[in-house]
Amino acid sequence: MRLISDTVEVGGVKGPANKPIYPVSPVELWNPEVFTKGPPMDLFARLRTESPVAWNDEPGDRPGFWSVTGYKDVMQVNADFETFSSQKGGILMSHQRSEMQLARASLDGMINMDAPNHMQLRMEHMPYFTPAYLRGLTERVEGEVTRLLDAMAGQGRCDLVTALSSQLPLFTLCEILGVPVEDRPKFLTWMHYLEMANSFAAERSGATGGGLEGAAADLPPELKMFLDAFQAAVAEMFEYGRHMLHKRRLDPQPDLMSAIARAQVDGELLADEYLDGSWLLIVFAGNDTTRNTISGAMELLTQFPDQKAKLQARPELMPNAVNEIIRMVSPVIYMRRTATRDVVVGGQQIAEGEKVIMYYGSANRDPSVFANPDQFDIERANADKHIAFGYGPHTCIGKRVAQLQLEAVYRQILTRFPDIRQSGPKDVAANNFVYAIRSMPVEFTPAA
Ligand code: HEM
Repeated sequence: MRLISDTVEVGGVKGPANKPIYPVSPVELWNPEVFTKGPPMDLFARLRTESPVAWNDEPGDRPGFWSVTGYKDVMQVNADFETFSSQKGGILMSHQRSEMQLARASLDGMINMDAPNHMQLRMEHMPYFTPAYLRGLTERVEGEVTRLLDAMAGQGRCDLVTALSSQLPLFTLCEILGVPVEDRPKFLTWMHYLEMANSFAAERSGATGGGLEGAAADLPPELKMFLDAFQAAVAEMFEYGRHMLHKRRLDPQPDLMSAIARAQVDGELLADEYLDGSWLLIVFAGNDTTRNTISGAMELLTQFPDQKAKLQARPELMPNAVNEIIRMVSPVIYMRRTATRDVVVGGQQIAEGEKVIMYYGSANRDPSVFANPDQFDIERANADKHIAFGYGPHTCIGKRVAQLQLEAVYRQILTRFPDIRQSGPKDVAANNFVYAIRSMPVEFTPAA
């Protein structure tokens, strides 16, 4: 199987080939600074009404893209995986052709693959995402939530991200992967740097058309120091991943790490580059998304105290409340596709080779599907119709893992700390791909 990082079309002709029928986007959606207060929902509402398929120029020699913000149009793009390729251009707007391990690994994973190889690799992961496997996991997750809340209990106030949101997804992922307990703290450091990498790469590609590569030369000393630390952390992450995966190839265990290590596509084991890519994908996708949803849920429960009280009075509403939380938080901001033929979306003619970006959070606030979409309503009848996990062949493989963690956290937290609330402003990283909540102060009194 050829490497995606060798074959991807990252640039291409600067678009658009066809005249935009709607106004161009009034804001730079490629710019991470636009996302520092969270996804700009007011702007998305405007785009859905005035320009549902808007042309966005990108700086430098980057190709530009069509932003798709309405539910129906996002569904069309997500479902039609033959017309809208994940592989041809990769799913991130910051992808670049590069020799850097991180840049290559961000391409050489199944999230950037098209049929038929994508499904072969996805099936190899599946045994660790089945309801039967997850039943066994639930008890361990419940135990970890109890342990984390025990540690918070005496404090009365804390940073929710440090104490809980960043810890639980890490624990859960390490359980599924089969990471030894003593190695787990490393993951927190890697996550810290990975989260910053996206902002950094997007910012650099905006400023220079370059991305991470070549960035060091023109940086001030403090940023250069950060870059050195960042590169060391990333190198350690890949080294650890390769070492463990090779170890599992020789000595398989009943864990996801062994499934990835022994996965075959077209009858062949994965090349080292695909091991790097699979490792990066699972470490990032399994952690960051759930972390930010746990924090985002706290903000919603604080802003809508009537819904919080209802959930405390009627805990049987929890599964629907979790869907509603994920709809409103939508921690993955976008996924990109490349058109494999000329196509029409929302009346707009799109040319073969052009990039199309789906904005999930915006689709999940589309009033034509979700009445009064900015209202957090834990009894919303169609909350499960949200597409925060995507749709189609790449639908999030970890969605049940995310749901079970959110249920466990909020079931326990609302019983043990009934008056818990966000007590100050959150800090959100400049990141246009993930709604990355870096810190959120909370206050609470443990129940008697
Ligand atoms: C609230 C939490 C989560 C959200 C909102 C989320 C969102 C998404 C989205 C939107 C995609 C689709 C990508 C596409 O269409 O190109 C995706 C794919 C994926 N997610 Fe998640 N995710 C979450 C949690 C998790 C967890 C907990 C794991 C692992 C334990 C995980 C692992 C993955 C993987 C491996 C893929 C790639 C699937 C493929 O390409 O077939 N995610 N996720």
